[in-house]
Amino acid sequence: MKKKTLIALNWKMNPSTLKEARALFNDTKKAAQKARGLETVICPPFPFLGALGEKFKPSKTLSFGAQDVFYEQKGTFTGEVSAVQLKSVNATYVIIGHSERRALGESDEVVNQKVVAALKAGLNVIFCIGESNRDDHGEYLEFLKNQIESGLTGVTRPQLKRLYITYEPIWAISSGKDDKDDDSINGHDLHQMVIFIEKILREMYSAKSSLNVPVLYGGSVSAENIRTVIDEGEVKGCLVGGKSLTAKTVTALLTSAYTR
Ligand code: PGA
Repeated sequence: MKKKTLIALNWKMNPSTLKEARALFNDTKKAAQKARGLETVICPPFPFLGALGEKFKPSKTLSFGAQDVFYEQKGTFTGEVSAVQLKSVNATYVIIGHSERRALGESDEVVNQKVVAALKAGLNVIFCIGESNRDDHGEYLEFLKNQIESGLTGVTRPQLKRLYITYEPIWAISSGKDDKDDDSINGHDLHQMVIFIEKILREMYSAKSSLNVPVLYGGSVSAENIRTVIDEGEVKGCLVGGKSLTAKTVTALLTSAYTR
């Protein structure tokens, strides 16, 4: 089992300039170096990943990840980026199946192709699942089960060592505009979801190999709620968007995440 709590920082389509990206990277690096019990993964947009990652050596406390990857290795695919290209700029992680990409039309099938290709190429995969809303009859659980089963089709037991599943209920993801609307899940409900996801993994793989897959949580995680999310939700880390974007919020977030 991967031991460190993983905090993946999803910058999404931010910041606007390379200069700002460098400043945010330097501030994040300082905070991450103090947070020794964590592995922090910075996931910038592709241009900044290339610029910042090129001379960067991943360590036990800090690594780089991409927000997406294409499933082919090279060729005539305008606008796409391959796993090999990501590795060449020192990215060791990739987020796949984020709800914001699914909302742009990415199907379960494409997500699966990307997961399989990225794992085969040796990247660590942060595979995202999440329902847009909850019904009273548990249909959302069936929806999540399908997302997991289709996303992991063809993934082998040894590859699970490089897989993370992030549960990101779409209703809990922040708008990025108005903090007051942010609505994270409560610790008890999150723990129920972790148990549910672990059960599906056990059914798909063996009990032993499914232990290799940490379940993470994403959705309005902040310095204020990250301890509840980790301690009560019993997740092995978080995917953080909005609060990864300023020196102040990311430092507070990482400090809370490792301070007990
Ligand atoms: P948020 O984003 O922390 O701003 O809710 C999380 C995500 O979408 O990965």
